[in-house]
Amino acid sequence: MPRTLYTAEQIRARVVELATSLATRFPADDTPHFVAVLNGGFMFLADLVRAMTRPVTIDFVRMTSYGSATTTSGSPRIVHGPGTDLRDRHVVIVEDIVDTGLTLQALRRHLLAARPGSLSTVVLLDKPGRRRVTVPVDLVGFRIPDEFVVGYGLDCDEAHRNLPYLGVVAPPS
Ligand code: PRP
Repeated sequence: MPRTLYTAEQIRARVVELATSLATRFPADDTPHFVAVLNGGFMFLADLVRAMTRPVTIDFVRMTSYGSATTTSGSPRIVHGPGTDLRDRHVVIVEDIVDTGLTLQALRRHLLAARPGSLSTVVLLDKPGRRRVTVPVDLVGFRIPDEFVVGYGLDCDEAHRNLPYLGVVAPPS
C-alpha cells in the first residue's frame, strides 16, 4: 500500500481552513461558482464545497489527460465543459495538484475568456519543484516534494483514487 503522506484527518482539517480562507474572497451575498478539473479534483471539490457555509454552484471540466504517462505532452486542451455562463461570476478553479502548471495555465486562459467577475484558484497539492510555467495559485493545501502521490482523487494508472488519505508510491516505469 502507499506510504502515508497526509492522513484523512489532516486533509479534513486543511480543507476546512481552505474553505474559510476562500469565503473571505467574495461578497457575503455572492454565490461563487466552483469549477473542478476531472478526474483528480472530484474528491477535493466534494469536501471543499461541503465545508463552505454559503450557497455555491459547481461544474466540471475535463482536460486532455496525461493518461498513464507521468510527463506532460506540453499543451493541455479542454475536452469537456464548462457548461455554465461564467460572465461576471466569481469563479474558483479546484485542482488536485499543480505540477508543471501547464494544465492550470490553459484552463485559466480558457475561463478568463468567458469574462468572469473574478477567477481564483485553489489546489490541494503544489509541487513547485516541477513547475515549467508561472501560473497564479491563490490557495494551496500542501506543498510537497517531487514524489508520486496517490489517493484522495489522485491515481497511478487509475488505481488508488478512492483512498481517503494521500500516499506515495514508486512512479510507474
Ligand atoms: C493531473 C492533475 C492536474 C494535472 C496537473 O491530471 O489532476 O489536472 O495533472 O499537471 P500539470 O500541472 O503538469 O499540468 P491528469 O492528466 O493526471 O488526469 P487525472 O486528473 O484524470 O488523473
